[in-house]
Amino acid sequence: MSDNKLFIFDTTLRDGEQVPGCQLNTVEKIEVARALESLGVDVIEAGFPVSSPGDFKSVVEISKAVTWPAICALTRAVEKDIDVAAEALKFAKKGRIHTGIGTSDSHIKYKFNSNREEILERAVAATKYAKKYVEDVEFYCEDAGRTDNEYLARVTEAVIKAGATVVNIPDTTGYCLPDEYGAKIKYLMEHVDGIHNAILSTHCHNDLGMATANTVQGVLNGARQVEVTINGIGERAGNTSLEEVAMIFHSHKEQNIITNINTTKIYSLSRMVSALMNMPVQPNKAIVGRNAFAHSSGIHQDGVLKNRESYEIIDPKDVGIDDNSIVLTARSGRAALKHRLHVLGVELEQDKLDKAYNEFLKLADRKKDINDDDILMLVGKDRTAMHRIKLEYLQVTSGIGLQSVASVCLDLSGVKRYEAASGNGPVDAAIKAVKKAISNSDMTIQEFLIQAINKGSDDTGKVHMQVDYKGNIYYGFSANTDIIAASAEAFVDAINKFIN
Ligand code: KIV
Ligand code: ZN
Repeated sequence: MSDNKLFIFDTTLRDGEQVPGCQLNTVEKIEVARALESLGVDVIEAGFPVSSPGDFKSVVEISKAVTWPAICALTRAVEKDIDVAAEALKFAKKGRIHTGIGTSDSHIKYKFNSNREEILERAVAATKYAKKYVEDVEFYCEDAGRTDNEYLARVTEAVIKAGATVVNIPDTTGYCLPDEYGAKIKYLMEHVDGIHNAILSTHCHNDLGMATANTVQGVLNGARQVEVTINGIGERAGNTSLEEVAMIFHSHKEQNIITNINTTKIYSLSRMVSALMNMPVQPNKAIVGRNAFAHSSGIHQDGVLKNRESYEIIDPKDVGIDDNSIVLTARSGRAALKHRLHVLGVELEQDKLDKAYNEFLKLADRKKDINDDDILMLVGKDRTAMHRIKLEYLQVTSGIGLQSVASVCLDLSGVKRYEAASGNGPVDAAIKAVKKAISNSDMTIQEFLIQAINKGSDDTGKVHMQVDYKGNIYYGFSANTDIIAASAEAFVDAINKFIN
């Protein structure tokens, strides 16, 4: 194996999916896994099988659906976890068990009420136990970022001796400085006997905005696997973003680090993950943000028009942004919509395409420029097809000096319910009418975010909502050119998550 090959380990479906409100069902996970395969990732971490039947099933189904990347399943250093992970991986062409334990003094003392020697023994035992099932065993030293380097080297050496093929050095809390993280990897490369029998992996969190910088420092000091997610999604401030690392080594050829990533597929996958997880990409996000290649100042525009490289270090086409894309309007045909969806990584069967096209025509009547976000929203609408409660009709009157009043019709598993309510503004009236229609007013809205996708008064508004019901939080989402309708739809979306 050439030592400038960098293995890309994608954990969008495990660490990324832990974000509240971003959970995907198995079908959606398979869709993402297939797209990751065609992007060229080397390893897909598909879940934590012992954590839930849903995660177990996803690992099984992704193992069946994907051919060449290794499929990885997470465990704690616990035999039961490892047994369940091995069972979930039984259809994987290449299966990897990712086991591990906290190694920082704080984890050892407060999480495990243990000591360094005992933790070392557990690490070795878990590695050996996983090795009974699969050849490819990755060991993670949780909170390695705050683990004493000498002890970290002892654990690394011991698990390699026990058969670990990869040792993961997570900066679990996102605390390290880039120099410090790079020095940690260098220390391990220089002080661990047998280090060349395994690969060191980076796994950096972004709490201080340094995940990508730390990952790059890790690679420059000898790590040859990076654990990353699409759009950098992940708990709290997220994980290292795949697209940033891939484009850093694509742009800095002098570093002589090679990945297997087909960079032209980055943009469509970023959009797919954002749409499926209802997780907007910040406009100024490096590589995939809406403004990443938008030059608005006159000086920049002039420079780019004369020579793109004056202000752009990456050709947008290299990440799959097709600036010659067909502009979709009310006069565009099905083929144009199909092409645009294909560019965005979405393939629809004929009946779904027909449905999306009808929705598209309705939207195009109301909105002049239909952009990629609009199109993905249209396709996303189909995800409500399985909802037991559907908002069929909404009419609201409101205005200055008027009491807001809303009338709704809900379809409750085939039964129509009509209700009306007044409220302190149009959204309040609509929500109260929905509550009356389902004869349940026990839910309260905790968070309510309305976001315009682009600009212009005809823009589509996205609504994210957190609804508290009996002490649990449920997430609702919708997008509509009518923000009152989007708000009511998001509320109904949340209700569908807990109603039987
Ligand atoms: O951040 C972390 O330490 C992890 C491990 C479980 C690999 O996600
Ligand atoms: Zn993590």
